[in-house]
Amino acid sequence: MFLDHCPLSFIQTLLSAACLYAAYYVYWYSTTGATQRRLAALHACKTPHKWRTTPLLFGLDLFYDSYKALKAHRALENFATRFWASGVNTVEISLLGKTFVSTIEPENIKSVLATDFKSWGLGEEREKVMVPFLGEGIFTSDGAAWQHSREMLRPNFVRSQVGDCEMFERHVQLLIRAIPGDGEMADLQPLFQSLSLDVATEFLFGQSTNTLSPSGGTAETKEFARAFDHVMNAWGGQDQGWEMFVGVLVGLFLPNWRLKGEYRIVHDYVDRLVERAVVNRGRYEYEGENSDKGFAFPGRELLNILLAGRDTTAALLSNVWFELSKRQAVWDKLQREVSSLNGEFPTFEQLKEMKFLRAILNESLRLYPIVPENSRMAVVDTVLPLGGGEDGKSPIFVKNGKMVHWSLYVMHRRKDIYGEDAEEFRPERWLDGEEGKGLRVGWEYLPFNGGPRICIGQQFALTEASYITVRLMQEFCAIESKDPEPWHPRAPDYHSFYTIYDGFLISYLSPQ
Ligand code: HEM
Repeated sequence: MFLDHCPLSFIQTLLSAACLYAAYYVYWYSTTGATQRRLAALHACKTPHKWRTTPLLFGLDLFYDSYKALKAHRALENFATRFWASGVNTVEISLLGKTFVSTIEPENIKSVLATDFKSWGLGEEREKVMVPFLGEGIFTSDGAAWQHSREMLRPNFVRSQVGDCEMFERHVQLLIRAIPGDGEMADLQPLFQSLSLDVATEFLFGQSTNTLSPSGGTAETKEFARAFDHVMNAWGGQDQGWEMFVGVLVGLFLPNWRLKGEYRIVHDYVDRLVERAVVNRGRYEYEGENSDKGFAFPGRELLNILLAGRDTTAALLSNVWFELSKRQAVWDKLQREVSSLNGEFPTFEQLKEMKFLRAILNESLRLYPIVPENSRMAVVDTVLPLGGGEDGKSPIFVKNGKMVHWSLYVMHRRKDIYGEDAEEFRPERWLDGEEGKGLRVGWEYLPFNGGPRICIGQQFALTEASYITVRLMQEFCAIESKDPEPWHPRAPDYHSFYTIYDGFLISYLSPQ
């Protein structure tokens, strides 16, 4: 039978769509919407302060302003200025059709990372960018998979592993040899990056890349180190600016072959290490000598931890030495503390006792937090304790799927927490006694995050940075900065998700 279709007019189609939408909305309003309203009412939630943008531009003006600041290496500063101008600690931002909450309120961060941990996940972005390179591991997974990784890895971060000062000494010897001690200038930042790669690969793979050795490592390790750096830079976005361009415009259709090639080099290298470990019945061999270290890290976790632990520690060392090279008084005071070792190599226990050294590291991580910003996505409808209403003192409702972002860079500079001199580098604030009030902080200070996902390598990083700093102070009696610039972040040019000093950490170091 032939059915004669009478095509709906355009208006009729529109009306039908509107009716369908209205019906869906009524259904949603009386089910999900009602549950959300009940939750918001139960906690007396109020709406947060919003950052004003030009109407109808969908936040394009804010986006452009942030982009300009990023290009000028002022993104963190620019964000802080906006926060101070808004006069509140939690805001809602709408940017290119997406709305998220940004906060510098310790109570809110504590809720996301600890007390309401189960309501939050990493969000899709981290997974999209990182899983093809890192695979599923501690850094890229949530829920039961993450918990499994965390439990499996924890035994590798016990005191005997993270306090292996003999290993640090082997690498610091190569570092000292790479620094000209005859008054010639040295750029310490790339040396710290090489050092932290060499240390991290020895800790994780049982075999160091040894990029600081006179040969620069074997051909295989050199290729691995180069490819790993290339991937980090490409993620950072600007060193390989064309790649990001390709990534955005063409990469939607064409894979980025060059980057994929680098992934393959890194993956092949790790696979070969794992195979060798199996052949050696679970033991790696160092160059020329048998190692007594078992192969403790599961293959798929190796890159997750290398990513989390390598550049972070190098950035901490660079930031600490930036300040040391500019502040004679801090240098002198630290030299006095180091001299209590009478020239002996420090032990793990002695490093922990060095209060001024620890204050310098704390202060560096306060002003230049290595992971300056972070975020989580709500995986269920939930509530943040503060930020709603005129005074920002009421809870706010956050629906499933919404992102919450926080800036440590800004929170660590809050004058109501750290005092009027919050923007100054003053390690004494961490000391008890005449010079400082022995700053006690909780969720106001989070360089290593907090809660169940707190950085698992915190002790390792602090021991490494302490050991290297003390040993360099023992080898060199003076330092002179040759870079007149103030500190600013290198982002977006290099590893942009970390706070790395932009510029050459060029110094004269004089041998003892
Ligand atoms: C100064 C150096 C370091 C800083 C500032 C730092 C900071 C952080 C931060 C903020 C996080 C939380 C990331 C997030 O959940 O979004 C984190 C996680 C992590 N860090 Fe570190 N980190 C440092 C060094 C290290 C080192 C040396 C290692 C290992 C050798 C390491 C291993 C990890 C791992 C595996 C995670 C993921 C933990 C989890 O999700 O359960 N980190 N780190």
